[in-house]
Amino acid sequence: MTDELDDVRRHYGPKDLIKRLKPALNSLGPEDQRLSPQQLAGLDQFHTRGLAATAELAKLAGISADMAVLDVGSGLGGPARFLAATHGCRVTGVDLSEQFVDAARYLTDRTGQSGQVSFRTGSALQLPFRESSFDAVLLQHVAMNISDRARLYAEIRRVLKSGGRFACFDVVLNCGEPHYPLPWARTPATSFLFTATATREAI
Ligand SMILES: C[S@@+](CC[C@H](N)C(=O)[O-])C[C@H]1O[C@@H](n2cnc3c(N)ncnc32)[C@H](O)[C@@H]1O
Repeated sequence: MTDELDDVRRHYGPKDLIKRLKPALNSLGPEDQRLSPQQLAGLDQFHTRGLAATAELAKLAGISADMAVLDVGSGLGGPARFLAATHGCRVTGVDLSEQFVDAARYLTDRTGQSGQVSFRTGSALQLPFRESSFDAVLLQHVAMNISDRARLYAEIRRVLKSGGRFACFDVVLNCGEPHYPLPWARTPATSFLFTATATREAI
């Protein structure tokens, strides 16, 4: 398991991420100009169908302003910032990659949302939160990097309040093994696709 997490961490551990993001952001405005989460959507929604998918998932989950929301595998924090800006909720993101968490905090400073959106480094298999902490948990394009699905979904259940909501949008196995490299894995060593039926059963 540790090997698996180390491999996944390495895959999502780009060097100098913030340094590389800055020139891309220059085209949106000077460093001291506040950016909107929507302006960042071309680079911070790290899943199929980008912002549209996050918006749909949030709607399906019934996210509202009074909720404390956890985004598991929060990446660059795009979904978390969008949820907070659109629905008025407080959002916490947790991600295995320290580089992504640093970049997510930097981007959240740039949108002026640091009071409403925060990020922690940690594993989805050992979430660094007490039980019954959140009204909703979102999981987008993360489960395909995790073999121990029972533990993943049990952890999510543990941190959800009674009656809380879990919404996920993940890649599933359809027909046969995919061709590598893929955005989430260079080799099968870090890819753990389940069929939709097996995913539902695990949940
Ligand atoms: C494809 S990105 C999706 C990021 C984000 N959910 C989004 O949709 O923009 C997958 C993310 O999951 C994180 N991740 C993978 N395995 C994880 C684990 N066991 N615990 C926490 N985060 C994990 C990666 O570090 C990466 O940031």
